[in-house]
Amino acid sequence: METIAAIENRRSIRRFIDKEIDKNIIEKIMEAGILAPSGKNAQPWKYIVVTGENKTEMLKAMKEGIENEKSGNGIFMRHRQLNIPAEYTVKIMEEAPITIFVINTVEKMKLTQTMEEKLGEMANIQSIGASIQNMMLAAFDYGIGSLWICDIYFAYRELSKWLNTDQQIIAAISFGYANEKPSARPRKRMEEVVEWR
Ligand SMILES: Cc1cc2nc3c(=O)[nH]c(=O)nc-3n(C[C@H](O)[C@H](O)[C@H](O)COP(=O)(O)O)c2cc1C
Repeated sequence: METIAAIENRRSIRRFIDKEIDKNIIEKIMEAGILAPSGKNAQPWKYIVVTGENKTEMLKAMKEGIENEKSGNGIFMRHRQLNIPAEYTVKIMEEAPITIFVINTVEKMKLTQTMEEKLGEMANIQSIGASIQNMMLAAFDYGIGSLWICDIYFAYRELSKWLNTDQQIIAAISFGYANEKPSARPRKRMEEVVEWR
């Protein structure tokens, strides 16, 4: 597939059919992630692939996150509408045969940091974003749908514990064969986002 066609036609997929993805395709998708550019070639990513029965434990951690939010022991505390996207996210991750958690291997969760640390973190997170996008485009090329998910943060502590990591959990990506054909989401016009100098 032409790269531009993949960029233009990829959609976020939130409904998946009940069909496993071959392990070698998953590895090819992660190979594409590994080929992403990264600041200082640091390659600050790790992929934790969750499939099969391990999904149950993943979903349990997510649901614990929801319960802790609801009981006021969560991260967001004043979570007026939290349970709606959170429960929707759990449903998507339940349906997807595979979810990959992308970990930032060089950054821990820090609540205060120096400007220098913040700037380093910004570069590492961009690198990880490039890796995620590479994986999603590669997946699309293999006929597999994907969803980039940050609505896991309500269960950040529960997932950290379950994944057994103190490194930053940047995002999850769910993969599967699409059971929907979403139309293109709107984009801002060129004039809105470009400034020529
Ligand atoms: C950093 C990031 C986080 C996202 N988190 C979520 C999420 O938690 N749940 C979700 O349904 N979609 C999530 N998305 C998908 C966006 O909603 C989607 O990319 C956007 O609406 C444009 O649609 P498209 O991907 O089909 O072009 C996320 C996308 C990005 C880049």
